[in-house]
Amino acid sequence: MQNSALIEIEQELERLRAEGLYNNIRTIESPMDGHVQIHGRDLLNFCANNYLGLANHPRMRAAAQRGIDAYGVGPGAVRSIAGTTTLHVELEQKLATFKNAEACVTFQSGFAANLATIPALVGPGDVIFSDELNHASIIDGCRLSRATVVRYAHNSIDDLERAIAATTAYGRRLIITDGVFSMDGDIAPLDRIADVSDAHGILLMVDDAHGEGVLGRGGRGIVDHFGLHGRVHVEVGTLSKAFGVVGGLVAGSRVIVEWLRQRGRPFLFSSAMTAPDAAACIEGVQMLEESTELVERLWANAQTVRAGLQQMGFDTGHSATPIVPVMLGEATLAQAFSRRLFEEGVFAMAIGYPTVPMGKARVRVMNSAAHSSEDLERALDVFAQVGRELGVTG
Ligand SMILES: Cc1ncc(COP(=O)(O)O)c(C=O)c1O
Repeated sequence: MQNSALIEIEQELERLRAEGLYNNIRTIESPMDGHVQIHGRDLLNFCANNYLGLANHPRMRAAAQRGIDAYGVGPGAVRSIAGTTTLHVELEQKLATFKNAEACVTFQSGFAANLATIPALVGPGDVIFSDELNHASIIDGCRLSRATVVRYAHNSIDDLERAIAATTAYGRRLIITDGVFSMDGDIAPLDRIADVSDAHGILLMVDDAHGEGVLGRGGRGIVDHFGLHGRVHVEVGTLSKAFGVVGGLVAGSRVIVEWLRQRGRPFLFSSAMTAPDAAACIEGVQMLEESTELVERLWANAQTVRAGLQQMGFDTGHSATPIVPVMLGEATLAQAFSRRLFEEGVFAMAIGYPTVPMGKARVRVMNSAAHSSEDLERALDVFAQVGRELGVTG
């Protein structure tokens, strides 16, 4: 007899397919880079978070190989039992120095870093003030903590102040914001949020997944971008985007980092980052310490693409970073646009409801230092052609 739960789930899957919400997952047949191969075709890749082109960089590949030669492939244990190697310790020290933070601890992913941090800092009876557009991993971390969650309007200091004033019963308080918002590419006003945190004595946490390796001097992140060293208690980051590998980090207060090594559940109960990952991440930090060239190229590429799209008459929303949305409105138009781009050799994702509000569907252009100027020219030509064809631009 069929299990009734399985029948229900099958019906849910059917519903997703019928409503056009089913996630058809593309399979990449090449290394992650400025170009990728899909179905045997070479495509210009504007989908990845590989901001600096490190995912397939020869130095990163060589470092990962050395990591395997020295330590093997798997950690074999969680960090607190036997999973901490000298590579993990070195990476954490290097990241703390690079980011000018008191201390740093790494996790298996940015998602795991949020799930570790939020419930370790607050619990029942405490209050979290959370930007309404915060990432899913923050939302899940908040839920796990069982603290009261008060959402404030996106990037609104006034609404944050209002929410704080309206919340009179609490134990501990924590403000959490994304640093760069991944669907719009706008930056949180962290300097003003830090003023609010200082004024009310509230803990402050930023998730800088899309700012790590992108914002600040030589990619040191959002705290460096605003010169807020020592004023942001927790800076979550990821090693899976600009650093091109996989992993997460928490930099900031020494006390909090120490606490996370004692009470961060993914640190205690899920196996450590692998040796090749940790070794490649060490190399990535080293490369950013040696040169700002990749970060500069990323920003120059993003500027070329944003300005080019705007000149053609596209609406690029609130983008202030290498994430450039091309606002199209209806999900069907965004999907058709992305499909035509793909047919013309440009891979850029359509994003619609529920990831973004109804009527705000877009094609999201993720820029990278891995693109050459010829790549950018070719991509802009294709956008111009498809924009005219679908009546988006004149
Ligand atoms: C704001 C934010 N936080 C966390 C994550 C998760 O990072 P990771 O892929 O390292 O788990 C993402 C990834 O999309 C993100 O955008």
